[in-house]
Amino acid sequence: MPQTNRVIVPLDVPNLTEAIALLDKLPQVNFWKVGLELFVSTGPDILTILKEREKRIFLDLKFHDIPNTIAGACGSATQYGVDLLTLHTTAGRNALKAATKAISDTPSPPKLLAITLLTSLNSRELAFDLKIPLELPEYTLQMAMLAQECGINGAVCSPQEVSQLRRVCGDDFLLVCPGIRPSWSDQGDQRRVMTPSEAMQAGADYLVIGRPITMANDPVAAWGKICEELETVS
Ligand code: C5P
Repeated sequence: MPQTNRVIVPLDVPNLTEAIALLDKLPQVNFWKVGLELFVSTGPDILTILKEREKRIFLDLKFHDIPNTIAGACGSATQYGVDLLTLHTTAGRNALKAATKAISDTPSPPKLLAITLLTSLNSRELAFDLKIPLELPEYTLQMAMLAQECGINGAVCSPQEVSQLRRVCGDDFLLVCPGIRPSWSDQGDQRRVMTPSEAMQAGADYLVIGRPITMANDPVAAWGKICEELETVS
């Protein structure tokens, strides 16, 4: 696969008009992420549009519910031909297995990705609010291992977690990383970032890169620079 097919750009916009404008602005991008904001606004219309344009889809709705509901939601997502779909590991073993089972008999099932711990949570919140008595890296690792045990195909993780997860979960476990900032771009609100080539070298399969491309003065040029950088990674 060309390295540029490993870059996923989020459609972080509030409505269909802005989403279509972004798709038109960046026809070179093959893989788009649809998150809660846009999906709640447009419903599946955005998925239909992406399929019509022969794009790949990362549907990032982070399902978290009882097994029966998770199974139904995953089953419903398959009808739109999405490629990647997220759910929270903390929904539990039965929900993770129900998700895996729900998509297993469909013609082109999406790959399921686990959210181990939202990166907006820090170690203090983990200990004092969530009462989880593990260090944060150990907790995310345990959650990834649980997901893998239940047949989940991969995880969303920060670039800093990639090498350890790759080592523990093996080459077939998909690792998808947001928190990517090329050396020439602003860090914005992302902490603990890596450049595209660093994250790829650390073992990421896919990179989610938003504002360095979408908010650039020249988004097409920004995309081109990232592609060039990634072509240097073996
Ligand atoms: O603009 P930026 O490159 O920061 O966009 C990153 C995308 O990845 C956003 O859609 C953000 O919501 C998402 N994301 C993230 N961190 C996570 C999970 C998802 O930044 N842990």
